[in-house]
Amino acid sequence: MNSRQIQRAIGASGIQASAVGLGTWAIGGWMWGGTDEQASIRAIEASIDAGVSLIDTAPAYGLGRSEEIVGKAIKGKRDKVVIATKCGLNWHSGKGNHFFDQDGKPVHRYLGADGIAYELDQSLRRLGTDHIDLYITHWQDPTTPIAETVAALEKLKAAGKIRAIGASNVNPEELNQYVAAGQLDAIQERYSMIDREIEGTLLPITQRNDVATLSYSSLALGLLTGSIEPGRAFSGDDQRKDNPRFSASNRQKVATLKQAIQPISDQHKASMAQIVIAWTLAQPGITFALCGARNPEQALDNARAGEVRLSSEERTSIDKAIAMHLNQMDA
Ligand SMILES: NC(=O)c1ccc[n+]([C@@H]2O[C@H](COP(=O)([O-])OP(=O)(O)OC[C@H]3O[C@@H](n4cnc5c(N)ncnc54)[C@H](OP(=O)(O)O)[C@@H]3O)[C@@H](O)[C@H]2O)c1
Repeated sequence: MNSRQIQRAIGASGIQASAVGLGTWAIGGWMWGGTDEQASIRAIEASIDAGVSLIDTAPAYGLGRSEEIVGKAIKGKRDKVVIATKCGLNWHSGKGNHFFDQDGKPVHRYLGADGIAYELDQSLRRLGTDHIDLYITHWQDPTTPIAETVAALEKLKAAGKIRAIGASNVNPEELNQYVAAGQLDAIQERYSMIDREIEGTLLPITQRNDVATLSYSSLALGLLTGSIEPGRAFSGDDQRKDNPRFSASNRQKVATLKQAIQPISDQHKASMAQIVIAWTLAQPGITFALCGARNPEQALDNARAGEVRLSSEERTSIDKAIAMHLNQMDA
């Protein structure tokens, strides 16, 4: 294990993992214009070699594809990784609340005990393991009481099939219900320099209750890496294709921010992505930063962010630059 990677605790679970986590949504292909399996496997291997232990996936990422690729990449290395996967978006039962269609299959939000047990067995098979370290409810199911879901998850924990419980895409009320119902060790929420809503809503609750927070889309789907050139076009089902977030004006704003923080990047011999990730990990209440990567170069770039330590002066000057250059972004 690379000793320079920041290690942090997943709530009160007793599990430690690298603060920089590898996200594998794009590796599943869906909503990202497809996937390259060999490049994906090399990206996962490069992350692990660089000391990244936290790997986040979900059944919904390509209807099992992401979990299968992660399973192949971690074969023989299970002891080096902390696996987070999810439940509650299923395409097998039709139960719960219809959410979207993927590959012509209706996907439902369902967090009843029977659905979770079925999904967990499928995930264990695809990942080639006998336990999940952090098992997260992916989206909340309006048809099942949270206390019932937590009771089902606690049973699976007692059986040794999962080690910690997390919830994703919660509002403050749902988060409080999870905390009241059992031991919630983590939430996973959208957070980055340009998505900071949870600072005033969820983070005060997690910090009071020893719940870790995993930020997702920490690089704003790649926009904040500063490497989305003005001429880059997105194709296929890539969600960025018609996304106002990737407007010419937003790309220009990010380019201006990149220039403004260049002295800090130079000081640390770091890329913009590394400074953005290090800034994210320095935010109060953010425990882990999940960053997607589709090839070994991106994986290594992001992994090395776990070795960057920003001073408080540097953080203040980045905050000022964000306020000046990333205001009024196209949403
Ligand atoms: N719980 C939830 O509902 C939820 C929702 C979203 C995400 N997540 C999790 O959070 C993870 C991270 O979020 P995300 O994947 O949505 O977005 P992200 O990390 O903000 O962006 C990932 C994308 O940015 C580009 N990129 C990454 N590193 C780069 C680098 N160093 N240099 C240049 N480009 C780079 C890559 O796309 P290109 O190469 O194509 O530009 C990559 O696919 C996901 O993979 C998933 O595990 C969870």
